[in-house]
Amino acid sequence: MRIIKADHYDQMSRIAANHIAAQIILKPDSVLGLATGSSPIGAYQHLISMYQAGDLDFSNVTSINLDEYKGLSPKDDQSYRYFMNTHLFDHININKAKTYVPDGLEADPQKACKDYDKIIENCGGIDLQLLGLGNNGHIGFNEPADAYAKGVHCVDLTQSTIEANSRFFDSFDKVPKQAYTMGIGSIMQAKKILVIVSGGAKAGILKEAFFGPITPKVPASVLQLHNDVTVIADQEAAALLDQ
Ligand code: F6R
Repeated sequence: MRIIKADHYDQMSRIAANHIAAQIILKPDSVLGLATGSSPIGAYQHLISMYQAGDLDFSNVTSINLDEYKGLSPKDDQSYRYFMNTHLFDHININKAKTYVPDGLEADPQKACKDYDKIIENCGGIDLQLLGLGNNGHIGFNEPADAYAKGVHCVDLTQSTIEANSRFFDSFDKVPKQAYTMGIGSIMQAKKILVIVSGGAKAGILKEAFFGPITPKVPASVLQLHNDVTVIADQEAAALLDQ
């Protein structure tokens, strides 16, 4: 595992964007595993700037997002499909037909998960998986549990995740309580993993995830077993790593 310490959020984002850009330049038909949330927004902005400067071509890239809220339509401005379109896809030359997000409107969890597992399989595996880190150590929406879930599954979000997500919604009641997410197995099969972590609130969980015991109670701790993980943390998030 490599840990890169950045001075602040923008530097973290720039470094992450450079890693993703390098992946695309070296393999133009890369399959990227992408995340939503506050952490990747800056990296997506840098990728858009590189595209606008003519330095990056997304035309052969495939993307597979980690997760989607169950029950939200792609047109809902809180859906992760909407997030990806507005923060990245609408501004680059990616073929939208090759950008995948779980189908939040599929009411049958078994079908939704099976379909998305098939999509991941058909893409031939993920070259680079971008991850944020949840306050409780979740990756994707793999919440702390007694065992790791392998494939795509429907998850009941924990109270702490619902509370963290509520910052984006008008009212607490509107925050979805379930989501479809890639499993730990799908994430661990990615060839490279890039984790971006920002802010003092994540300092404790970052240390626990990468230097504590490997346990499904801290889902991100499983990344210690992956042989190509790069963590990019800003100063505040990395504050406890030297202790
Ligand atoms: C988002 C996702 C989540 C977030 C995590 C951190 O697609 O899968 O695991 O990466 O909740 O969220 P932020 O970046 O908002 O702190």
